[in-house]
Amino acid sequence: MLNGILKGYCLILTCGKEIIGTGTLLDSNARRVFIKPLYQKVGLGKRIMHGLEDKSVEERVRMLGLDASLVAYPFYRALGYQTQSEEIIPIRNGQNLRYYKMVKNLEIS
Ligand SMILES: CC(C)(COP(=O)(O)OP(=O)(O)OC[C@H]1O[C@@H](n2cnc3c(N)ncnc32)[C@H](O)[C@@H]1OP(=O)(O)O)[C@@H](O)C(=O)NCCC(=O)NCCS
Repeated sequence: MLNGILKGYCLILTCGKEIIGTGTLLDSNARRVFIKPLYQKVGLGKRIMHGLEDKSVEERVRMLGLDASLVAYPFYRALGYQTQSEEIIPIRNGQNLRYYKMVKNLEIS
């Protein structure tokens, strides 16, 4: 995680002294996009993603990728991300972790 923050472009949203959201761009991938539960569903996640997309365009990244958890999947769909593949990782006790590899083509002028 520290590697992503040190090498990548990290956005942090604050409300007063409180950190309420974050997201990181590392190469051509959006990582660790989180909004504190109390502040979700009011457009802040979208604001973080648009900030990462703007930076990607500035860096001439044509396709932004990310790994979406099951709960975040509808959020990224709403922002125009397309599903590339569904991934399943076996974890403990026969349980599986399911996530989606997603991408969005960015418009570079
Ligand atoms: C996923 C997360 C980042 C979304 O942030 P948010 O601030 O709640 O989302 P926003 O309010 O900006 O929503 C943006 C759009 O996505 C839609 N959306 C968000 N969550 C949704 C959901 N669960 N189902 C359907 N649509 C959803 C909103 O309706 C909105 O659509 P609109 O632009 O048409 O109004 C946030 O819920 C979160 O941090 N979740 C926990 C951590 C997590 O799962 N992070 C992602 C790791 S892969």
